[in-house]
Amino acid sequence: MGDTKKTYYITTPIYYPSAKLHIGHTYCTSVADTIARFKRLAGYDVRFLTGSDEHGQKIQRAAEAQGITPLEYTTNIVNGFKALWEKMHISNDDFIRTTDERHEKVVQALFTKAYEKGDIYKAEYEGWYCTPDETFWTEQKLGPNHTCPDCGRPVERVKEESYFFKLGKYTDQWLKFIEENPDFIQPESRRNEMIQFVKQGLEDLAVSRTSFDWGIKVPFDPKHVVYVWFDALVNYISALSPFDGDGELYKKYWPADLHLVGKEIVRFHTIIWPMMLMSLELPLPKKVFGHGWMIVDGTKMSKSLGNVIDPIPLIDTYGADSLRYYLLSEITLGNDGNFTLPNFVTKINADLSNDLGNLLNRTIAMIEKYHGGVITKCDDMDDLDRDVSTLAVQTAKDFEAAMENMELNKAIKSVWAFIGRMNKYIDETMPWVLAKSEDAHDKARLQSAMYHLAEALRIIAILVSPVIPVGAPKIWDQLGLTGFGSATIEDAKVWGLIPTGTK
Ligand code: ME8
Ligand code: MG
Repeated sequence: MGDTKKTYYITTPIYYPSAKLHIGHTYCTSVADTIARFKRLAGYDVRFLTGSDEHGQKIQRAAEAQGITPLEYTTNIVNGFKALWEKMHISNDDFIRTTDERHEKVVQALFTKAYEKGDIYKAEYEGWYCTPDETFWTEQKLGPNHTCPDCGRPVERVKEESYFFKLGKYTDQWLKFIEENPDFIQPESRRNEMIQFVKQGLEDLAVSRTSFDWGIKVPFDPKHVVYVWFDALVNYISALSPFDGDGELYKKYWPADLHLVGKEIVRFHTIIWPMMLMSLELPLPKKVFGHGWMIVDGTKMSKSLGNVIDPIPLIDTYGADSLRYYLLSEITLGNDGNFTLPNFVTKINADLSNDLGNLLNRTIAMIEKYHGGVITKCDDMDDLDRDVSTLAVQTAKDFEAAMENMELNKAIKSVWAFIGRMNKYIDETMPWVLAKSEDAHDKARLQSAMYHLAEALRIIAILVSPVIPVGAPKIWDQLGLTGFGSATIEDAKVWGLIPTGTK
């Protein structure tokens, strides 16, 4: 009895509600959702978190520009986030806002803990700040003409009283951790970058601001608000309510198994966040994966640049499955990707309508026409049958292995290779010829072909369900099967589970 299932805690970045989200954010959240759904299919007890990062100077300025309070401003945009995730069939278990009281009290407690430990001290910050990225920079790291070395936009001069976190103190402990946990930073190229960054030497990090007030107050010095990144990173823990009751969620799910983030914020997640946790003496997450960017005309798509593609009209026109399928199958996780409408339309027509759609429609139509809609199990396999039934099981295994390895597009490709094989199987078995024959052997061949097609689609539906969660259960419905919600990856690795006589 009880909870013996392995847990899997996966997170997306909490996005800034400084403007509507675009297909870059949609990409990241869809990847996380597909992994979460796959892990559920694989029997894990999954917790999937997303949310919004609402404090800081950027948001305060945006709200001021509209003449409304920051909270009014963010609430409005955050409602749009939630509506987008619903439209995309994102299966998050929770949505954390950094303006939630549950979050604010954890940030205050952890900030105080680091302060009492002596890892946070008061001094004056003098240097540069990139407001769009909410990042401090020293003079020598800046790009040409006082620009942000990450995003290239102009930085601002900042001089104010700040609390500082002793980042540098954790350098050796961090290097040792990275050495002992070579898989912590993915992909590998990002890991090497981060090691270089740390080895160049770390300055202590300003972790509070005094020149504006839209943030979480430092409890022992309320003219300071906590620096937005110190605030935001804590969301991964605060969402598990560590101090409520006996901290059940926290005990169950922390440390996180995977923080999925864009490559531009890997540094915050693999250096600052682990060092904060080292100071707080809390366990570190198991993995941070830095995915690539959606690119438009060679430049990163970005809210602040405004060169964005809005996912909503795409979903309204083509459906959530189409957008998910395109983003997940077209881009190798870790690499940058392009989105163009012609490419998108061509790909979803070819793969979803033609390959998968036709396999399903032809199969259902033939079972209806030749056998009055009834599937009969047939043990009498010929070489072709054996070929496809073996390939089905192999495909399920390959799919699982690729997913476990975060090779989502490779996993999808293996399923579509199998779909292609099954379409060819129809052409090879020529059911329309068998159906005209009075020969007993041909009749058996026809029954077997229909059974093999139905079985293949049963397995395909399970495998594609993390990617196209709207369409996958419809395949089962059309096959007359029930209980899709409780199907597992194991059911896809076994041939012949459709009971004979299924209508
Ligand atoms: O950085 N292509 O929030 P943010 C792909 N609040 N993914 C993209 C993208 C693009 N062109 N643009 C954005 C923040 N993303 C912080 C995070 S976490 C504790 C705090 C995705 O609104 C990508 O995942 O700028 C990126 O890391 C994230 O959105 C940044 O969102
Ligand atoms: Mg950003």
